[in-house]
This record gives sequence, structure tokens and C-alpha cells, in this order.
Amino acid sequence: MSEAVHTIGVLTSGGDAPGMNAAVRAVVRTALASGCGVKGIQKGYAGLLEEEIMDLDRYSVADKINRGGTFLYTARSEEFRTAEGQEKAAENCRKHGIDGLVVIGGDGSFRGAAKLAGLGINTIGVPGTIDLDISCTEYTIGFDTAVNTAMAAIDKVRDTSTSHERCSIIEVMGRRAGYIALYCGIANGAEDILLPELYDYDEEKIVEHIVKYHKRGKKHHIIINAEGVGHSTSMAKRIQAATGIETRATILGHLQRGGSPTARDRVMASLMGAYAVQVLLEGRSKRVVAYKNGALTDYDIEEALAMQKEINSFEVMVSQMLSK
Ligand code: ADP
Ligand code: F6P
Repeated sequence: MSEAVHTIGVLTSGGDAPGMNAAVRAVVRTALASGCGVKGIQKGYAGLLEEEIMDLDRYSVADKINRGGTFLYTARSEEFRTAEGQEKAAENCRKHGIDGLVVIGGDGSFRGAAKLAGLGINTIGVPGTIDLDISCTEYTIGFDTAVNTAMAAIDKVRDTSTSHERCSIIEVMGRRAGYIALYCGIANGAEDILLPELYDYDEEKIVEHIVKYHKRGKKHHIIINAEGVGHSTSMAKRIQAATGIETRATILGHLQRGGSPTARDRVMASLMGAYAVQVLLEGRSKRVVAYKNGALTDYDIEEALAMQKEINSFEVMVSQMLSK
């Protein structure tokens, strides 16, 4: 066993994502295999403050790899954002013998993990969010499941849209990031995609597309709109008025966050969870696991948070070209 850590705590924080359970399972079983004890903290940082902490053994994570959501529950905690809250959380870690903490979540959760590291708790973040909006990594747990779920739903909307020769605006999740919209745009062959990173709010351009494609004989017009652009229902009304083509809006919402994780999410979650424990066992702290150029690596949390990520312009170009 490492001299660095003896008891590893694990929590899930922020929005849940399919595959979080698989990541917790990997953390638990890797830690146990290395001779560490494991504590599960319920409801993220809120549960750490309330001491909702339990021992986990290998059976605690049996039958979890295939389950969506997070059996540890998740939460957002305002109290933890304060210096007093962070002190109390670090104190609770010490009280329960937790000297290494795996935080599965997004950027906000990693900011919290950096604060705890500053207070003497070894921490590591594992990227878990359906939005793929963590700059340091090319993969986040939950993204693949969410895209597959949205893709299947959009296919269904397309069936009815084609039957009625309608235009359909389908809103997918992504408050600040358009990755789900972009990947569905390619996977569903959408005529238009609206991404918060790029959308110029020029509805005239969309109307022109719809009219042009309609004249060419297209039987549907699928617009995938990211939540960050939003306003799908009012946009549908305006587009119908401008084109004379019946237009409907469908907001997919939280169904994209649930469901059994895909193989990709289960595999990535298992690898990232195991990797996180290894980093703690090496005595390293304030790190975040990342998938970069086909391999797992890790970064200092603050360095990772300062990184910028841009929408891939080739992917955008392909999505547009292939639906023309
Ligand atoms: P995500 O981790 O998915 O980005 P949030 O941004 O909601 O989700 O963050 C999850 C939790 O992490 C917050 O409720 C809060 O307790 C904690 N957190 C977020 N930002 C900070 C911060 N700057 N400092 C300390 N804790 C933070
Ligand atoms: O998990 C990420 C995300 O789905 C965003 O796309 C969305 O804006 C947000 O979470 C909504 O989360 P909630 O409804 O839990 O506040």
C-alpha cells in the first residue's frame, strides 16, 4: 500500500451522467485491490458537509456498472463554495480518515477539489458530464450515452416530421456547449445545427435553407438546437410564419441524462476511475484525469481549468456539407 493514502473517498457532484456508477465501481475496486479502505460520500460536497459518508466494499458496487444515474446521488452545494464550508469539508475528511478524494463531476466540482487540495486533502477529478465541456479532455463520462439517447429520439421525430412534411426543431442539452448538438447533427443528418459557440442568431439564413431544401423536394427539415441557444418553441412559431411550412419544437430535456451507459461510457469510466486511484496512490494531488490523443493522462486542476476548448470546425463543416 502507498504511504500517501490509506482511505479513499469518492463522490459524484454537479449534473449526473450515465457511467458515473461505473466510475465509482472502478474507484472502489482499484482502491481495495491496493489495500486502501474506501468511503462513499453521498450527495457530493453537500453530503461531505453533512457527513453522509459510508464504507464501501466490493459488493457495494455490484450490479452498478450497467445502471444510469449515480447511486451515491449528486447535489450542488452553496455552503461548500464558502471558505468556511471548505474548511468544514476538509475537517470532515480528516474525521473520517479520508486522505484521498476522487471527485467525479465537471469544472465546478474540480474547482472545489482544488480548494480541498489546498487544505491538505489529496484530490483528483474524473470528468463526468454529458456536455463534453471540460477543456483538458477529449472525453467526458456520459457524453456517448447522451448522444445515443438523443440520436434515437431525433430519429423518431424525423419519422413523423417526414410523414407530415414538416420542419422540426429539436432542442438537446448543452447550456454552454454545443457538442451534443454537433454530434447529433452529424449522426442524425440534420439540415441545420445551432451551437451556442457559433450561432449568429440570423434566423433569415435558416428560413432560406428551409425554403431552398423544400423546393428541392426534401420532405423534412431537422434543426438541432442546443439548449444554450434555446427558445425552440418561439423559434418554431417564427419559422412557420416565415416559411408557411408547419414547424414543431421538441425539447428532449433530462431524458438525455438518464439510461444505461453505452459500452464506451462504461469502458472510459472504468479506465478513468482506476487511473484516478493510481494517481492518488502515487502521492499526487490536485490533478484531473483526461483523455488526450488516445491515452489517459492527468493535469494540475488549475492548469486544466485555464485551458480553452474550441468546437472542431471540420466537424461543423462536415455536418453542414453532408446535409446539403
Ligand atoms: P459541475 O461540476 O458539473 O460543473 P457545478 O458547477 O454545479 O457542477 O459544481 C458542483 C459543485 O461544486 C457546486 O455546487 C459547488 O459546491 C462546487 N463548486 C463549484 N464551483 C466552485 C468553486 N469555485 N469553489 C468551490 N466549490 C465550487
Ligand atoms: O449535465 C449538464 C447539463 O445537462 C446541461 O446541459 C444543462 O444545462 C444542465 O446540466 C441542467 O442541469 P439541471 O437541470 O440539473 O440544473
